[in-house]
Amino acid sequence: MVYQHNPMFNLILFGPPGSGKGTQSENIIAAYGLQHLSTGNLLRSEIAGQTILGLKAKSFMDQGQLVPDEVVIGMVDNFMNAHPEAKGFLFDGFPRTTAQCIALDALLKNKSNEINVVLALEVSEEELVKRLLGRGLTSGRSDDTNENIIRARIQEYNDKTTAVATYYAQFNKVVSVKGEGTVESIYADLKAEIDTRI
Ligand code: AP5
Repeated sequence: MVYQHNPMFNLILFGPPGSGKGTQSENIIAAYGLQHLSTGNLLRSEIAGQTILGLKAKSFMDQGQLVPDEVVIGMVDNFMNAHPEAKGFLFDGFPRTTAQCIALDALLKNKSNEINVVLALEVSEEELVKRLLGRGLTSGRSDDTNENIIRARIQEYNDKTTAVATYYAQFNKVVSVKGEGTVESIYADLKAEIDTRI
């Protein structure tokens, strides 16, 4: 018998805090049936559930710092194994370091799969701060209410997470998309990039 596997379509929606990853993820998963994997959402639900992992993560998140790689990678591994039916994953907020990229590639390789494309949302720092302070008025997210914490998150992104784009650029997988404008126009640009690859 010839072994067959169904290749998944795996997408990383990449960009700094406030660039619209969560907003655009909703449209993309609805249109393409991908499984949404947001490490920020998973970590917040661990905190809400007062789990050991959540307690470990909270102090880092409250200060705008990245949660240690081993904590996040284990959580992603568990989530992917819990969704064997997925047609593909939309990774939102993950990977955020080179170590996370290498771990993700290994997890996908185990399933005879890979990242198909990294769509990188480009938004100016002042627009990011404006959006996150605006969201902080209603979101209840402790890391959105203080401008210093928001700037610390952007600094973490500049120091550690831009390396993710560098990592995937070596495989020609990164496509930049303008992340300013209406939600609908940005989605149309993302959709056009996905449609040429899926
Ligand atoms: P995470 O939850 O991933 O947050 P983030 O990256 O800081 O991203 P946000 O959710 O704040 O922004 P977004 O890009 O999703 O934008 P959104 O669509 O919400 O991470 C939180 C923390 O968890 C991290 O700081 C870290 O501590 C930890 N963590 C998570 N993953 C980790 C990992 N892999 N490794 C280590 N640590 C990890 O939009 C933002 C706002 O803008 C909204 O109000 C929205 O309505 C608005 N908006 C969206 N689009 C537009 C538009 N086109 N025009 C105007 N406003 C817009």
